[in-house]
Amino acid sequence: MKLEPGFVGKTYDDFLFRPQQGLVESRSQVELATRLTRTLEIGMPLIAANMDSVTESAMAKAMALEGGIGIIHRAMSIEAQAAEVARVKRSHGYIVEHPLCLPLGTTIREALNFIRQHDITGILIEEKKGENRLAGLLSNRDIPWLDGFGDRPVDEFMTPFERLEVRPPGISVDEAEKVMFENRIEKLPLVDSSRRITGLITKKDIILFRQRPFFSRDEKGRLLTGAAIGARGDFLERAAELCRVGADVLVIDIAHGHSEVMRKAIEAFRASLGDIPLIGGNVGTAEGALFLKDLGVDAIKVGIGPGRGCRTRLETAAGVPQLQAIRETWCALEESVPIIADGGIQYDKDVFLALAAGASSVMLGSMLSGTDEAPGRVIEDPATHEKRKIYRGMTSPQAVLEALYDPQDEEKAAEALATPAEGQEIQVPYRGSVISILQRITGHLRSAISYAGCQSLEKARKQIVPEALRYLIPLSEAARRESYER
Ligand code: XMP
Repeated sequence: MKLEPGFVGKTYDDFLFRPQQGLVESRSQVELATRLTRTLEIGMPLIAANMDSVTESAMAKAMALEGGIGIIHRAMSIEAQAAEVARVKRSHGYIVEHPLCLPLGTTIREALNFIRQHDITGILIEEKKGENRLAGLLSNRDIPWLDGFGDRPVDEFMTPFERLEVRPPGISVDEAEKVMFENRIEKLPLVDSSRRITGLITKKDIILFRQRPFFSRDEKGRLLTGAAIGARGDFLERAAELCRVGADVLVIDIAHGHSEVMRKAIEAFRASLGDIPLIGGNVGTAEGALFLKDLGVDAIKVGIGPGRGCRTRLETAAGVPQLQAIRETWCALEESVPIIADGGIQYDKDVFLALAAGASSVMLGSMLSGTDEAPGRVIEDPATHEKRKIYRGMTSPQAVLEALYDPQDEEKAAEALATPAEGQEIQVPYRGSVISILQRITGHLRSAISYAGCQSLEKARKQIVPEALRYLIPLSEAARRESYER
């Protein structure tokens, strides 16, 4: 299909949606599930951007719990990024497969540090380090939080094996829930006939599965998470390590994804990592989208220069207005490869317009920045007491320097100094937890879908996307003022 002239030069503020006869009685009934890639589905169409001021493990966890997904950025060492992914994958699951253990003899001080470091609420104690034979369980309740106990061994406080409820591997989640309820316990270790630890089931997770049936999870009930890799240097090593720790999807994105660098990178990726789900980007044209499709990516990230921290259009004149870019790539791909609309979302309504023009999901940067879950400290202005956090483009001078500048490594240092800034750093107001922001955006999206007369995002896309212009009203300058000036 060819791009309709009505989309040329257009972006979000150029259209309103023509309301259709409403069918749903309550907007809470509107389903938001969508395709992230050719093979992965998520519970709602929002993705946290792979930026160092947006997504590390805390954001990725929150996104998956709300039904979306976060992509952990790559401006850190391979080990650090893999640890962030592992933190998300370990945080929830039907069964924790390799529960963290400490050996008998560990001090309470060491145990408390371990709990803090790994963000867990109880620890399995093994007889000898590395042997994996269960000796006991040190739960939150067992820990003496008072001063003066730091040097005492965990052995004195844990519940010993003889008094623990344990079950063999292979127990069903329902059966485990019954055991935990009958014994009023929160953790059920799974051990084989020689007491070797094979897993751990926690009440917290079982409750989660009941309360949040929509959250984004893999077949083992662990939260879904993605991670970014580059297209040069050690990117294959990075990719292999991220897969090893359980990343569900990798994102290979560079500023200009329609390029030879990208071709070589994707070919090398497929040759060494096979068919791991791979999102490629960024592109903004039909030719760019077909190029990535032919290279076999599983989803395509679309957006050249719309991002809030982005200066590409200002510095180079390269770019495509974002709604045109989404439409143009959809016209080339139709539903063969899902499109991720990346960047430029300023109002909640933009999310629906991106989906109505052809995107299957939407990547957000600045909308999720300034929150507790975004990396970085809260800065308080000493004069006004206003609280702020940093949001910055990944090619802002500060981000490039921090990610690449290593005085010990001349090649990296030269790359840092030679990278032209196409991004900028800004301070954004501190906004508390991202959960309330996600709930607001998804609430508005549900309302938008009910204005479209549909019961689900999937149905709305099926109905609207093939003939999007029939549903969109182009705005005059006066209509834009009437709509947005308040
Ligand atoms: P929003 O508007 O949601 O955009 O904050 C997030 C997206 O912006 C892109 N990004 C950049 N683009 N220079 C750019 O040209 C940069 O330094 C930069 N940093 C981030 C990226 O696609 C992100 O998802």
